[in-house]
Amino acid sequence: MDYRSKWFVLTVLYLFLHFTLPAVIQPLNGTWRVKDVGNIYSLPATVPGSIYADLMNSDIIGDIYYGNNDIDTRWVSKMDWIYSRVFDVDPEILYQQNINLVMEGIDTFATVILNGVEVAYTKNMFLRYIFDVKNYLKEGANNITMIFYSPVNKARELFDKHNNYVGLPQCVEDSYNGECHVNFIRKMQSSFAWDWGPAFPSMGIWKPVFLEAYNYSVIRDVTIEIIHDTTTDMWDVDVNVYLAGNGGSQCNQGTLVISLDTENDTISNVYEVNIAPNGTVQHANVSIPKYHVRPWWPNGYGDQVLYKFNVTFTSADGSEKSEKIIRVGFRTIELIQDDVGNGTTFYFKVNSVPIFAKGTNIIPISMLPEQLQNETQWRFLFQSAKEVNMNMVRNWGGGTYKPDLFYELADEYGILIWQDFMFACAMYPVEDDFLENVRQEVEGTVKRVQHHPSIALWAANNENEAAIAYNWYGTDINYNLYKADYIKLYVETIAPEVFLYDKSKPFTTSSPTNGVKSVQQGFIGTLPECSQYGDTHYYDYSVDSWDADTFPRTKFASEYGFESLPSLYTMRTATNNSNDLQIFSKFMINRQHHYGAEGYNQMLFLIKLRLRLPSVDSENFMKTFIYYSQIQQAMAVKMQSEFYRAMQNTLFEDGSGLSMGALYWQLNDVWAARLHEISISKNLFTYVDFEYTYQHILDSQNRWKMLHYYAKDFFAPVIVTGYLARTGNLQIYLVSDKVDTIPNVTVNIRVQNWMSFEPVAEEKIKVDMQPLRSTLIKSFFVDNYLASNGCGSLGIASKHCFIYLTVNDPFSSIAPDNYVFPIPLKDALIPTPALKIVSVDMVSPDGKEYDIGLESDNIALYVWLETAEILGKFSKNGFLMLTPSATVKFYANEPTTTQQLTAALTVTNLFDEQYL
Ligand SMILES: *[C@@H]1O[C@H](CO)[C@@H](O)[C@H](O)[C@H]1NC(C)=O
Ligand SMILES: *[C@@H]1O[C@H](CO)[C@@H](O)[C@H](O)[C@H]1NC(C)=O
Ligand SMILES: *[C@@H]1O[C@H](CO)[C@@H](O)[C@H](O)[C@H]1NC(C)=O
Ligand SMILES: *[C@@H]1O[C@H](CO)[C@@H](O)[C@H](O)[C@H]1NC(C)=O
Ligand SMILES: *[C@@H]1O[C@H](CO)[C@@H](O)[C@H](O)[C@H]1NC(C)=O
Ligand SMILES: *[C@@H]1O[C@H](CO)[C@@H](O)[C@H](O)[C@H]1NC(C)=O
Ligand SMILES: *[C@@H]1O[C@H](CO)[C@@H](O)[C@H](O)[C@H]1NC(C)=O
Repeated sequence: MDYRSKWFVLTVLYLFLHFTLPAVIQPLNGTWRVKDVGNIYSLPATVPGSIYADLMNSDIIGDIYYGNNDIDTRWVSKMDWIYSRVFDVDPEILYQQNINLVMEGIDTFATVILNGVEVAYTKNMFLRYIFDVKNYLKEGANNITMIFYSPVNKARELFDKHNNYVGLPQCVEDSYNGECHVNFIRKMQSSFAWDWGPAFPSMGIWKPVFLEAYNYSVIRDVTIEIIHDTTTDMWDVDVNVYLAGNGGSQCNQGTLVISLDTENDTISNVYEVNIAPNGTVQHANVSIPKYHVRPWWPNGYGDQVLYKFNVTFTSADGSEKSEKIIRVGFRTIELIQDDVGNGTTFYFKVNSVPIFAKGTNIIPISMLPEQLQNETQWRFLFQSAKEVNMNMVRNWGGGTYKPDLFYELADEYGILIWQDFMFACAMYPVEDDFLENVRQEVEGTVKRVQHHPSIALWAANNENEAAIAYNWYGTDINYNLYKADYIKLYVETIAPEVFLYDKSKPFTTSSPTNGVKSVQQGFIGTLPECSQYGDTHYYDYSVDSWDADTFPRTKFASEYGFESLPSLYTMRTATNNSNDLQIFSKFMINRQHHYGAEGYNQMLFLIKLRLRLPSVDSENFMKTFIYYSQIQQAMAVKMQSEFYRAMQNTLFEDGSGLSMGALYWQLNDVWAARLHEISISKNLFTYVDFEYTYQHILDSQNRWKMLHYYAKDFFAPVIVTGYLARTGNLQIYLVSDKVDTIPNVTVNIRVQNWMSFEPVAEEKIKVDMQPLRSTLIKSFFVDNYLASNGCGSLGIASKHCFIYLTVNDPFSSIAPDNYVFPIPLKDALIPTPALKIVSVDMVSPDGKEYDIGLESDNIALYVWLETAEILGKFSKNGFLMLTPSATVKFYANEPTTTQQLTAALTVTNLFDEQYL
């Protein structure tokens, strides 16, 4: 069908539009009061907000992130709290046919009382609640009161109503210092503590709350599916507009105008609609020739083209108007699971181009849900993700569905979203009431966000298939029951509800899962973390993490990582007692949720396999430990990520290999809601916020850890990398995410002696670089190669030398330089360099950009710059310095002077005397 016969360019159709008014909105946010049920406390409250924030603002509790306050403030979550305020209703509201109380987010259990009448009860943090309150409002002063019930007590009560085999595990692990039975309530699962974070079971109105009044209708949701019809080469755009009911009033006729601003014109259509008492769904459909719009691409593959989509309802008498504007992108997305013999592939295609997924997992940006709407912080995170060449993040299932803002930014920055539903690491109840609650949550979430081109996948839960398959929580005792419950919730409730509103996106029942293989096996795969199928989560702190042969040869790594500590400057904001900053102090153990002290022992173990760590009681131990933990994390994640990229075209005989995704754990740090130390690894340090609430000046303390600097290189569009097998065999791969062949590329394999900046030998290999693939360039036994290239005899050569790799086209370097250390650094013969800062020069007159000059008399390893309390980031950090001098840029968040920066600036390297 010709799109112009069905849709036409909008001219000035509705001259009367400027007389119309939108539904009347009266915000009820602002200042409320809160008191406890026992009448001990009574204080002002901020809405949106939470009980923890209100108590902090009134100085009743200290900064929740300071010291051991997670434990010391736990009483807050065990009391019931009453929020209330008095408001005068806008007279205009009372004249309308329909008056609703709209609550976009209530955390979690609350009775809503309006002028003494109980009007509603809430029990799901993830739902938007809309209550008809027409009959309860009056002219003049009205009193709204909400009684919030302790989520900890509610979870316990719900657990008690079940047989105690329901809802395993009953509690989080002891080392989390958390609360029990969170799986019985629909609240952020990590609010009862997680391996990476503290328990703050908050309560409150965490999103906007307002009165909404109208005669006819308002647009509630708009869903859009954009599908490429390959036979006609058209985009089929399928739209559903959900209009609110009119309570059966006479005011039920109106017009819906749907318009899309494309590149060069506006395509529109008009529908006459009748509003039913319980609401109306208007369906619209249009086909747009493919050439008429430009496609949306993930970061690194093309532009993020977004078009304005405008849906406007106007009442028949022209008095009322409701408008919803969203941005849409034209792209196809597929999850490819093709048979490859002993396994199946598992990768995404966008616009038919296979995408190697590069990125991380994200956790909530705050323990206080009201802070999850912070645009500055989300922008910082997306900017930081884009800057280091990421194209996907996983919104992990133990947190929350994100605000619209999050998905809008993902669209804008080209970051694909792997979206879990909020079920994690537990068995869930499945009685009708619970399932209906979940159904509403899925409906609301999918309708709200499915139109975003960034959303790549829906996954029904985090690790619950694996939990049953591997009997993590003792479910083997009644395997069939847990399996049946699992199917009821994810397969029979969530999946069909998603498909009602979003048919075109990939869906998996869990992460990790064996995908199609798990489906064949009845949804609980025999080994859902195997490398032949689907995605995997992998953590092993008992084997050498710099040895690529320890990594699973997965199809798609959706979680992997290692712990590291944040900088000392960051830690000092959580305690001013230097005794706390000792590795096994009570303070440190409280913040190590991964088995307490045992977690630190694992970190020590991993570091010592590769580096010479001073003894735990040496004077500067903590400083060294922090620095080395960041080196260990950065190197391990670098090796693993590069390994996956290198193996994207290698199929091993057992069906493993063909890796097409590397999403490490994790981008952000929760205590860092204000601290924002980017990228920790599994667990820990996150869990260290280390900041005073009352030092809001530290608002943008977004320090990058070493790993984040490394990600920029190991996720670069083109990399050269070495896979050193345990046999000593080294394979050099050239990996390209570019869609075009690049001719005349030279890979330089340099042999470097640790004693000299000058290479001992160099080999140049010329290739035409193939698009979207990993190519094996050369394979050799590394010690033999070094020995035959001037590094001494066999067995000794690897102590003296290492491999340095560069790539260039005829004009310049096209990939970050890389290196391979043939043996653990602790065993290599590396001299101690004299490394120093020789200059600090202001480059931009606003005092925000500096050039820092460095000099060294020998190769320096893990060159690490810090600027104490001056916040900002470097052009590179933690790097291998292979030249006598180097310049690093520093970008300060706030203007600073050369003197201040010089005073604050420090540099260190692996063999710095102060550390050894
Ligand atoms: C209430 O919310 C609206 C919309 O977000 C905002 O403009 C307004 O400033 C808020 N009012 C108060 C008192 O916080
Ligand atoms: C509103 O009603 C609640 C419950 O009856 C009461 O506790 C509160 O004091 C009232 N607020 C005001 C400002 O009158
Ligand atoms: C309204 O109710 C009717 C009758 O029960 C039902 O068929 C229809 O689907 C409902 N409409 C909406 C939008 O829920
Ligand atoms: C929009 O118009 C310009 C100028 O005529 C043209 O070059 C471009 O291809 C058009 N864009 C699309 C998507 O049709
Ligand atoms: C949306 O469309 C309506 C009616 O077609 C128009 O009045 C309004 O200005 C448009 N809004 C935006 C933001 O483009
Ligand atoms: C939002 O985050 C930024 C840091 O990115 C911080 O400066 C600001 O205070 C936060 N805003 C609120 C309202 O918490
Ligand atoms: C499957 O794996 C087995 C052993 O792991 C191997 O012998 C066999 O050749 C593989 N089959 C295919 C089709 O690759």
